[in-house]
Amino acid sequence: MSKKIFSGVQPTGNLHLGNYIGAIRNFVDLQNEDQNECIYCVVDLHALTTKQDPVALKKNIRETTAAFLASGLDYKKSIIFNQSLVKSHSEGSWLLSCVARMGWLNRMTQFKEKAGKDKEKASVGLYIYPVLMAADILLYDTTHVPVGEDQKQHLELCRDIAQKFNLDFKAPNFLRVPEPLIKKNFSRIMSLKDGTKKMSKSDPSDFSRINLNDDKDSIVSKIKKAKTDNHPLPENQEELKKRPEAENLFGIYSSLNNQDLTKTLNEFSGRNFSEFKNKLSDLLIEKLSPVSQKMKNIQKDSKYIDDVLKEGAERANAIASKKVDEMKKIVGF
Ligand code: AMP
Ligand code: TRP
Repeated sequence: MSKKIFSGVQPTGNLHLGNYIGAIRNFVDLQNEDQNECIYCVVDLHALTTKQDPVALKKNIRETTAAFLASGLDYKKSIIFNQSLVKSHSEGSWLLSCVARMGWLNRMTQFKEKAGKDKEKASVGLYIYPVLMAADILLYDTTHVPVGEDQKQHLELCRDIAQKFNLDFKAPNFLRVPEPLIKKNFSRIMSLKDGTKKMSKSDPSDFSRINLNDDKDSIVSKIKKAKTDNHPLPENQEELKKRPEAENLFGIYSSLNNQDLTKTLNEFSGRNFSEFKNKLSDLLIEKLSPVSQKMKNIQKDSKYIDDVLKEGAERANAIASKKVDEMKKIVGF
């Protein structure tokens, strides 16, 4: 069955291994499956929900686009664009924010985490962030949304918003209710410093993550310093579950090698961490160096990147503006 795919990544710098394994690598696989129509968006409007330096933001929009292209996304096959170039996202977001309920947004755990203790000081944008995300998805009649596990709740909200719009305006099936595509294994890569915390762009310590543009030496030293425990490597899945750092490193190894955890366990159980870490560094270098090299080359040509985004935006606009016009008619404008 052909799928309509939409997903987005925020251009907030420090793209890391979690973004790669949890999202971008899957974008490429979906693009290369026959018949899928894929749209991948650099969600710069979302980035504004937390404080951004305008010069850095521009650089990061291009960097995220370069990461897409370097990982194997093809702008001829997929639509690649940045959100702020397509006005319908903002317009659709307003229409949907009048459908979404405060009570629904109040349950969003990402807002609670990002807003921290002082909720009063968080931007209104951060609060309604999931409504903009719903607009992104719904404007394109998306059937499937590939994301990491952390976005599951936002996807459920998007489904609720679509259903309520259809119901409130007696427009059955007008907004298509999308399905999340979350990989069962390895959809959550954890910090290298704490196996119970998500690997994240915003962690102040660079040693908590492998960045897509890390060079070989940084990869080796980050893996060497990655937190472990003092026991030999686990023998089975049960034991692995109780040792979050080992589980995370085994997960990274398995996913980059496209093999299941059992195979990795068989390969390394009972051995010591240092031996495994050497193998893991080698694998990371093998898989990520070509990506970071390509990223560097692509980033040298900002005009090329801007042209890719502009072309993508024109194609996206043709679809999204039609949908927003229909939405406006339905609500009575
Ligand atoms: P963000 O960096 O928040 O814009 O996320 C972009 C994509 O990467 C989303 O699909 C996230 O679910 C995914 N992602 C972010 N961090 C991780 C992580 N630590 N493990 C797996 N996927 C992640
Ligand atoms: N909220 C997503 C994240 O932080 C990014 C995003 C914005 C997105 N709009 C989207 C993901 C639409 C999928 C579909 O990871």
